[in-house]
Amino acid sequence: MKQLLDLIGNTPLLEIEPNIFAKMEGFNLTGSIKDRTALSMIEDAEKKGRLKPGVSIVEPTSGNTGIALAMISAIKGYELSVVIPQSTSEEKKKMILTYGGRIISIPDERFREPVIKELKEKEKLGEIVFLNQYENENNVKVHYEKTGEEIVKQMEGKQIDYFVAGLGTGGTITGVSKKLKEHFPNIKIIGVEPKKGEKIEGLKSLKDGYTPPILNLNQIDEIIDLSAEDSVKGRNYLAKKGILVGLSSGAVFQTIKNLNLKGNVVTIFPDRGERYLK
Ligand SMILES: Cc1ncc(COP(=O)(O)O)c(C=O)c1O
Repeated sequence: MKQLLDLIGNTPLLEIEPNIFAKMEGFNLTGSIKDRTALSMIEDAEKKGRLKPGVSIVEPTSGNTGIALAMISAIKGYELSVVIPQSTSEEKKKMILTYGGRIISIPDERFREPVIKELKEKEKLGEIVFLNQYENENNVKVHYEKTGEEIVKQMEGKQIDYFVAGLGTGGTITGVSKKLKEHFPNIKIIGVEPKKGEKIEGLKSLKDGYTPPILNLNQIDEIIDLSAEDSVKGRNYLAKKGILVGLSSGAVFQTIKNLNLKGNVVTIFPDRGERYLK
């Protein structure tokens, strides 16, 4: 009999259009790729004895990691506080609260570096457990061992010429491309980030001045910056094909269309679309 957490991973890979294959991460338990990251970081922390029932986990996230951590914390009995930028969608906040997580909402400009610094101090004092998806190697390992490996199997021997993925923590693109490069040495890896000053929920621009330590830029051949408008265009186009996904999925898809890539292109659709309907 399957357990709840067994429903994480093994998501379908769909041929959205001829030669464009998308890994449908919205099929995970809480509807996003971050179930994989959250579970791998929690299981690692448990193995290392960092986590015991009753302990307080605090994590900064643009939402999806928070939702995934809230679901797993509910199952395992951990207390969770999620630090999120004010602009995070109401639907995501409600999901975290419904699973029993706490929310600490901060101004967008304080998000990430100052919070990461503060939480590291708190963890040193033994006040909290800070899993830190921006620096936690399990956020790469799970995509190398699972997401990337699943893609190789699901392509059933077909060549992969391009892998296109959005940049957030960098866990997805770093882990998956490491695996794909082992099988397809000539593959081109393309990262997608929002244009400076624009917002595509789930994605972050390196031009904001913060490069997550787990993001291996040596593995990426090209980084494309996309307008928020283009991410909505891609999302709406996919919805008209019956695929309701989030804005970062719209962004990677529209990037593939704009670049008019030739050959087999694999991408990741990180989450479902219901949480972005304004
Ligand atoms: C919706 C969405 N898309 C894409 C990403 C980027 O994934 P990664 O953090 O692995 O770079 C995230 C991460 O927060 C996300 O929430």
